[in-house]
Parts: sequence; C-alpha cells; structure tokens
Amino acid sequence: MKPVELLRSDTPACRELLHFNNAGSSLQPRPVTDAVLQHLLLEQRLGGYEAAQANAEAGQQFYTAFAALLNCNPREIAYVENASRGWNLLLQAIPFDAGDHIVTGVSEYASNYLSLLHLAKTKGLVIDVIPNSASGQIDLEKLEDALDDKVRLVALTHIPSQSGVIHPAAEVGRLCQQRRILFLLDACQSAGQTVLDVNEIQCDMLTGSGRKYLRGPRGTGFMYVRHSILDFLKPATVDLSAISWLQRNHFEWRDDARRFELFEHYVAGKIGLAVAAQYAVDNNMIESAAVIQRLGHRLRQQLASIVGVRIHDSGFIAEASQCSHLGGIVTFNTPLPAETLQQRLQTQRINSSVLRQRNTRLEFEDRGLGDINRASVHYFNTETEIARFCDAVEQAIA
Ligand SMILES: Cc1ncc(COP(=O)(O)O)c(C=O)c1O
Repeated sequence: MKPVELLRSDTPACRELLHFNNAGSSLQPRPVTDAVLQHLLLEQRLGGYEAAQANAEAGQQFYTAFAALLNCNPREIAYVENASRGWNLLLQAIPFDAGDHIVTGVSEYASNYLSLLHLAKTKGLVIDVIPNSASGQIDLEKLEDALDDKVRLVALTHIPSQSGVIHPAAEVGRLCQQRRILFLLDACQSAGQTVLDVNEIQCDMLTGSGRKYLRGPRGTGFMYVRHSILDFLKPATVDLSAISWLQRNHFEWRDDARRFELFEHYVAGKIGLAVAAQYAVDNNMIESAAVIQRLGHRLRQQLASIVGVRIHDSGFIAEASQCSHLGGIVTFNTPLPAETLQQRLQTQRINSSVLRQRNTRLEFEDRGLGDINRASVHYFNTETEIARFCDAVEQAIA
C-alpha cells in the first residue's frame, strides 16, 4: 500500500476536512477526478459520441479493472448508474414462480428489502428473514435450516450500512452452492473496504456503488454476473446495445454481462470509476482492508472510553486487539440526538452521518435502537484524526 502521506496528498480534501463519512460517499483521489474532468472537457471539445470514441480504451478499462478487483472475467462485469439499479435489474431477471422463497438477512439494505417486499407481493413469493447471531453476523445455523427446496434466491448485504459487521459471505456462498441456490451479494459497502473474490465467495451475482469505499464518482455503479447463469436470467428490458438485432422479429442477447447495460450512460463517470477500481487494486486490497479494520477498531475503542458514548457494533470488545468481524463502519450514540451531534461536528468540518430507525426498520426495531450516529473510516484517515474526532465528540456532549 502507498504510504499514508501519499494517499492523503492524492486526496486534496484531506487538508480541509476530517472525513468520516466514507460509507456515505468517500473522497475521490486526484486521478479519479482528473479522469472525469478530462473526459468532460473532451466532450466539450469534440462532442459526446466523438469523445467516447476517442477515449474508448479508458471506457474498456472499466471491465478489466473490475475483473481484477473481483477476480473474475471482464465479460462478467457490467456498468450501472448505481447499486440499487443493478440489484433490481438482477432481481427482476430471475424467473421466479409463485410460492418460491427468497432468503435474506435482518441487516439487508433497506431498499433491497423493500424491492423484495414489492416483488413478493406482485409475484406471490415468500421472504424469509434470517436473524443475526450474538456477533451481529447472520446466523449460519438458522440460515442453513431455512435453505430448503423452496428457496430460489439468497440475497445478502455483505457489509450493512447500519453496522460495522462484515457478514460471512463465503460461508453463505458455500451453503448456497451445495444446494444450487442463487446467491446475490450486495457489495456496496464492501467493495473497496475489504477483499472481494467472487470465486472464493461463490456468489452468482454481485452489485456495488462507485462513490463509497471505492472512492469513485457519484452516480456510478457496477455489477458482476457469473457467466454460467447468464442465460438463465431474463433481463426485464432490451436495449439495442444489449443485443444483436438479426431479423425483423428476432434478436440475440450479447453473450456477456453487458446485456444488462443501456447504450446511454454517464461515460465520464464510468471512466472515473474504472480509475477508482484500478486505484484500489494498485493500492493492494489486502493491506488497505487491514488498515481500515485497524482504524475502525481504534475509533471504537477511543469512542467507548468517552463517558456517555455507547458503541452499537455487535460483538465489539474494547480490550481485544482486533475484532475480525468488524470493519470501518462505526455506529454509536451519545446523550445528544444523533442529528444534533452530527450538525455540531459538521460546523468544525468533521463529516459523519446519522442512521435513522425508519430506514433500518428490520434491524433497528429488533435491536430496540432509535436514530444513532455513524462514523466510517478509510485507509487515508489517521489516528490523529481519530483523536480529533473523539475530542470533538467529547466536547459536543459535555
Ligand atoms: C449496503 C448498501 N447497499 C445498497 C446501497 C444503495 O446504493 P446506491 O445508492 O448506489 O444505489 C447502499 C447505499 O448506501 C448501501 O449502503
């Protein structure tokens, strides 16, 4: 991994801000912003189609960079405008029959769960929600019990936006593979935060967003579709660029994941996201994931030592040198309303966020939580920033 000073000098905003909102939208490194701006200028000079043509290689790098990040073939990658769009495209392409079951976890991302609910209502499907165990991770025994022959899909959020937990995706993948059940992984918070190897995880489909731990532009996302399941899926929409139109009444789908793409897209953003994915790969995901985990643990430890602060990341042990199931997302509350604390920090140019119970109903209702605070660290953050953040929290609640 590059030395932190270099990573920070690549990230100009570090000089101005203390950014602990990487789970919301991280800070772009300079090469990403430069790539986006250069392409926009090219569009200004040449015209949109001509700029895309002139920069075609940069557009193609999207597929090779994500293949390297996820350990798959570039033909298994597609560009989408955000993770939710990709996730829904895949969900809607699965040929469900009435009565089929979908298994998900209590930490599933809110919009994912709502989409499942909508689909279940319109197609007569059944959703089984598996609780978490005491560690905050999905209960693998209960999951295994639920995986009977009615189950068509397991949909799991790898790292939830509302807790620091990393769910055991590879164990879930193994259970699904043994039973030949489709496995859709939401890697929105894990892409760029932790090592993602689709072969090790054995997921059939995976979706993610550009702006979070990958540090790409807003309005960008990606998905992975295992080549062997491509023809089993039935895309809900047909776009000229996704097919070959062979005869008046006959077309054939592209033989790769790009059959889910649309011709018109944010080309500059796609190029920027390709640079962000390559930046993550070049920076060594194993090392950067370890740094994020270490900083997350340190932040939890220091926050926990402040009177009035409660940490909500399940299974956190302050005395431990590390909690291997927890990542860079730290959730906590103080005697102040969560929003008041966030606003007080923001006046000092300290970015964090608020998790609202109404957006995390499944998990927060079960755990009896209201709105709480979230601080999410990245590898370019430092221990000095953690100390400054904790001082600011302490002063805000004094
Ligand atoms: C775990 C998780 N999944 C999905 C999403 C949705 O991503 P997008 O906003 O790119 O659609 C988010 C966004 O916060 C998320 O945290």
